[in-house]
Amino acid sequence: MTELTATAHPNIAYIKYWGNRDQELRIPANGSISMNLAALFTRTQVIFDESFEADQLILNGEPVTGAGLQRVSDFLALVRQISGMGEFARVESENNFPMGTGIASSASAFAALSLAASAAAGITLDEKDLSRLARCGSGSASRSVPGGFVEWQAGDSDANSYAYSIAPPEHWELADCVAIVSQEHKATGSVEGHAIADTSPLQAMRIEQVPSHMKSCREAIIQRDFAAFAEITEHDCNMMHAVMMTSNPSLIYWQPPTLAIMQAVHSWRKNGIPVCYTIDAGPNVHVICENSHQEQVKALLKDIPGVLKVMLSGPGGPALLIE
Ligand code: PMV
Repeated sequence: MTELTATAHPNIAYIKYWGNRDQELRIPANGSISMNLAALFTRTQVIFDESFEADQLILNGEPVTGAGLQRVSDFLALVRQISGMGEFARVESENNFPMGTGIASSASAFAALSLAASAAAGITLDEKDLSRLARCGSGSASRSVPGGFVEWQAGDSDANSYAYSIAPPEHWELADCVAIVSQEHKATGSVEGHAIADTSPLQAMRIEQVPSHMKSCREAIIQRDFAAFAEITEHDCNMMHAVMMTSNPSLIYWQPPTLAIMQAVHSWRKNGIPVCYTIDAGPNVHVICENSHQEQVKALLKDIPGVLKVMLSGPGGPALLIE
């Protein structure tokens, strides 16, 4: 019996991943850039044991069956294939952030699982190979393996599609003020969303533009240039949502308060507050500013009707094994 525990943070993408070149291997249609979220984490323990007759998953204290278990079990099969370990596993995972708040837990979940499961199976993977493995569980999980500000190079094969840090967490004190406007589970998850991205006539054009978005965003982060960062982050987010809305079926993730926040962010910026928004496959809005403005931004957000809660987070470190 071998037992290991790892932690990982979720991440927020500034340049978005939407659509796959290879659906099975999760080779993305385009590269992406993100920041890990220090305040939020998943902790996952993996035990392989010859007495187990099947894989088991316990999430926040509750046993999981069905599709959720199957996804983890398929991933464990990959770890068994790579490591030569033949035993089934028990996976116990918990998040310090409530599920169903619209914060994607799959990124931190598969990053922590990759590290704990590979180590428990007796193999030591370097950061690149761990990021490749995490990618097979959930694309954005590849970006939760390295620390700080992270770039996922799209690549064109399993071997060259992985993420790496472009700056450590302490490089830039950015704050993500996450405005929760809905706690409901989203109707169309990202797995189905990626699969229909190509049905939008805008997707090909978006993909063509991403390399230049990546360059602008990377440079803005390196130079800590908030104005340039805000412009490219919002534009890239709006492009992804334009693809979502024009795909077949059409995906509209926004709720009325989502739009109210987007418009408020524009007016705050006009009035001199350095702030911008980005939105994933859900209605909640990530409002980004330098941390000197986070309390002011949090207070402003709380005044918007429909905002249920605001969570704050700075840049987080890499996935880690814990004793
Ligand atoms: O890794 P997935 O399949 O959950 O996809 C993430 C998709 C977005 O959150 C919308 C964008 C991104 O790059 O994180």
